[in-house]
Amino acid sequence: MAMVERRYAPCASHGFFLLRLLLPFLLFFSFIDVPPAAAATTTTTQSPPLTDTQKSIMNDIASLVNSESASANTSWNAADNPCNWTGISCRNFSSFSAVTSISLPNYGLSDSSIFAHLCRLDTLQSLDLSRNSFTNLSVQFFANSSCSMKKGLQSLNLSTNQLANSLSDLSHFPQLEVLDLSFNSFASRNLSADLGYFHKLKSFKASTNKLSGDVPTSMVGSLLELVLSGNQLSGSIPLGLFRYENLTLLDLSQNHLTGPVPDKFMSLPKLETLLLSGNKLIGEIPASLSNVTTLSRFAANQNNLTGPIASWITKHVRMLDLSYNNLSGTIPSDFLLHQGLQSVDLTGNMLSGAIPGTLSQSLYRLRLGGNQLGENIPVSVCDTLSMTSLELDGNQLIGNIPPELGGCKSLSLLNLASNNLNGSVPDSIGKLDKLVVLKLQKNNLSGPIPSTFSDLKILSTLNLSQNSLSGEIPSGIFEIPKLSNLYLQGNNISGPIPISISSSKYLIELNLGDNALTGIIPTMPTTVTTSLLNLSHNHLNGHIPSNINSLSELEILDLSHNYLSGDVPSSLGSLQSLTLLELSYNNLSGPVPRFRPNQNLDIDVVGNPGLVNGTENNNGTPTTDKKKRHYFIIIIFTIAGALVGLCVLAVIIVMSLSKRVYRVEDEGLPAGESVPQIISGRLITMNSIHTSAVDFMKAMEAVANHQNIFLKTRFCTYYKAVMPNGSTYSVKKLNSSDKIFQIGSQEKFSREIEVLGKLANSNVMVPLAYILSTDCAYLIYEHAHNGTVSDLLHGGKSEVIDWPSRYSIALGVAQGLTFLHGCTQPVLLLDLSTRTIHLKSTNEPQIGDIELYKIIDPSRSTGSFSIIAGTVGYIPPEYAYTMRLTMAGNVYSFGVILLELLTGKPSVSDGTELAKWALSLSGRPDQREQILDTRVSGTSIAVHSQMLSVLNIALSCVAFSPDARPKMRNVLRMLFNAK
Ligand SMILES: *[C@@H]1O[C@H](CO)[C@@H](O)[C@H](O)[C@H]1NC(C)=O
Ligand SMILES: *[C@@H]1O[C@H](CO)[C@@H](O)[C@H](O)[C@H]1NC(C)=O
Ligand SMILES: *[C@@H]1O[C@H](CO)[C@@H](O)[C@H](O)[C@H]1NC(C)=O
Repeated sequence: MAMVERRYAPCASHGFFLLRLLLPFLLFFSFIDVPPAAAATTTTTQSPPLTDTQKSIMNDIASLVNSESASANTSWNAADNPCNWTGISCRNFSSFSAVTSISLPNYGLSDSSIFAHLCRLDTLQSLDLSRNSFTNLSVQFFANSSCSMKKGLQSLNLSTNQLANSLSDLSHFPQLEVLDLSFNSFASRNLSADLGYFHKLKSFKASTNKLSGDVPTSMVGSLLELVLSGNQLSGSIPLGLFRYENLTLLDLSQNHLTGPVPDKFMSLPKLETLLLSGNKLIGEIPASLSNVTTLSRFAANQNNLTGPIASWITKHVRMLDLSYNNLSGTIPSDFLLHQGLQSVDLTGNMLSGAIPGTLSQSLYRLRLGGNQLGENIPVSVCDTLSMTSLELDGNQLIGNIPPELGGCKSLSLLNLASNNLNGSVPDSIGKLDKLVVLKLQKNNLSGPIPSTFSDLKILSTLNLSQNSLSGEIPSGIFEIPKLSNLYLQGNNISGPIPISISSSKYLIELNLGDNALTGIIPTMPTTVTTSLLNLSHNHLNGHIPSNINSLSELEILDLSHNYLSGDVPSSLGSLQSLTLLELSYNNLSGPVPRFRPNQNLDIDVVGNPGLVNGTENNNGTPTTDKKKRHYFIIIIFTIAGALVGLCVLAVIIVMSLSKRVYRVEDEGLPAGESVPQIISGRLITMNSIHTSAVDFMKAMEAVANHQNIFLKTRFCTYYKAVMPNGSTYSVKKLNSSDKIFQIGSQEKFSREIEVLGKLANSNVMVPLAYILSTDCAYLIYEHAHNGTVSDLLHGGKSEVIDWPSRYSIALGVAQGLTFLHGCTQPVLLLDLSTRTIHLKSTNEPQIGDIELYKIIDPSRSTGSFSIIAGTVGYIPPEYAYTMRLTMAGNVYSFGVILLELLTGKPSVSDGTELAKWALSLSGRPDQREQILDTRVSGTSIAVHSQMLSVLNIALSCVAFSPDARPKMRNVLRMLFNAK
């Protein structure tokens, strides 16, 4: 996609330079101090020397650059002719040269005194200081009449610095034709007025700044490029834009634009790229776009566009993205046929009818997921040999998977999941030897898994789960060299697990659960990557293979509901990463292996009469009793949790239905209102400092006065309470708590809180005491409140938080979360965001609100229940349909927190979720740079490289697929290793 932009951007600027090169030099002769011998000196090979003045200016600049630039290869040798220095261009005359262009991108520069030197270069036409760390433009130099540079400068690139100037500070450059200020913090009170200064502007790029107000229409020149994406522009798209008849690039995406898209595009006959994504635009796609024959890329995804999609939309366009709108109707039969069409994304609309049968030969990417498309998959979909990515998931497609799909020779991603497809999986799929990801889960497919799948030499993910497949697992599957994720659960697959599994090299997750597999568990591969092995709910017998410990990174091992017998290999005890060992309902006997004493492992061995839990000192009594109790507790917690869930949901609904109700609830009681009646209160902590200080009455008095509120999170209100001995504590009111224990019992609530009170981790906010009143529950904590991470990052403080602080916050939160996920009964977070992470000090984060939701065992469906959880921007995409809180969901929220630390941006800005924005830029290395907060990433090479490493971790945490996200334990390890 970026190729389109790249294609003409440089051409445009070069064009201007060539055209205008002569004029300044006519002027130039009139005021330059020409050396007397100039005309006489002519050398053939070497460029002529600079004038003494320019030479001394260049030496001044060189000493500044050499001292600042961390990259030694850029150092300039003062003995050389400056015109020969990297990044410097000169214009040669017979006897002397003049500097016309200086290009110092990514040189680590921050000292703005360089502008004073540059100002003296009166022949400069082009200046590129992009990707440095300038924070201040030294306006005084520009405004000063002795700044000669400004008279002739035509192209200025200051993109990706940390400039927070006002746009009006650049008003002194009358000759500017190309101005790139993207990725800074430029602000403008009046964009139209500020841009009106430039009378020759041809290209203005200011993506991702702090520009607000209306889209400007005051530009005087013949505008060719206007890029204003990622700002806070509001209002509608002005009609005035349509007088820039020479416009080739218009990018207004990721702003707050409203109203319909004007139907005036016949006035922009040269438009090549039109980007309107991520606004709040409504109405239909304007028909006049059909008259723009040059338009090759059009994106208006993530708006509220409605109406049908007409055939003409794709007549000229090559790349089309209209995903996540409310478009309806059918896809016209020739929509995908137009010549030159390369990529079409209509995901997440309300399109119905059939998928057109004829496709353009050049189409390589087709995304139609999440619509209401029906009928069969057209057999001709692969007549186009270029198709590499075909996503038709989440529709209502019926019939068979056409064998013709095997003709899609270039296909690397095929996703037909969650449709109503039936029949067998065609053998011909095995011919797709470029396939990397194949997702056919959640259909009604039957018959065997084709043995031809073993020919898919670069397949990494195969998901055939939740179908009705039968027959045996083809042994060749485990010989696929790169196979990492294999999901076959929820079918009727029978026969043995092929012994070829032992040759598998890169398995990460293997789920064969809920089938009819028989025979023994074969020798396991010796892969260190495997984290999940689920063979549960089959008919497997024999022993657990003793080499199972070769899967040394295994986190979840589920062998439950089989007919396994014999001893549990003691070697299992060496699996230090294991968090869940599920052996229930087999015929296992002997002792349960011993694990590290501090390993946070949940073991379930119920339903194995012969098994002795060696950790229990009960003289060989089977563990069934204990486990029954365990189950009983699970059920209680599940019910309690479900009730909490329901109540929270009810509160959310009430809050969203009535802002007024919410506000009343939120403000708390007015000062002097009656003090809540204590029903019971209990100290959980054993620490005598706290036990002697905490006074429940004082706490309730504090709560009665809303002036004591210092923080509100989505579900809780925090009050500051001064105890009789003068020490301060935090009292947290659970806003929905009345419903928790009126329906459930106080006893259960107390027990849960007491479990939490025993947690000991410095990065988790642990309650010291609780109070139940007639209508609320309160928790008491140490008051060590230095704000939240959100306050620190986005609280409007002017100082920039340095990277070491941000990194240590990231590590602290990861440690806390790893701890919570690793508890015997894992604690999951309902609301994990930078607002629920409290700072004990700048470098000591504590995860708060841990009591909101507890889940016993996320890997077991009995332990999960439905709720929409969290704060917007932190909610993983799958919660919308799984309605289930998971560890992977928490990992996603943590990834968003990492991104906030890396970018300094809030989790949602301009209506765009930070995670989505970062993912959209993550494809290209040069764009990855732009994700980082340049105010800190530019401080040193080491910081920059560590931030890039952490960015990779963050991006893996916010992966769309929960399966693709790493476990917290691994996240923590990667964070430690990030260099
Ligand atoms: C410029 O540098 C090249 C080698 O990089 C050298 O051959 C040439 O002589 C230099 N010219 C001047 C004018 O210094
Ligand atoms: C568009 O470009 C043409 C040719 O360069 C020029 O004559 C015309 O004035 C330009 N239009 C605008 C609105 O600047
Ligand atoms: C587009 O061009 C056609 C002629 O090619 C013309 O008939 C039609 O009116 C134009 N549509 C718009 C909206 O300008």
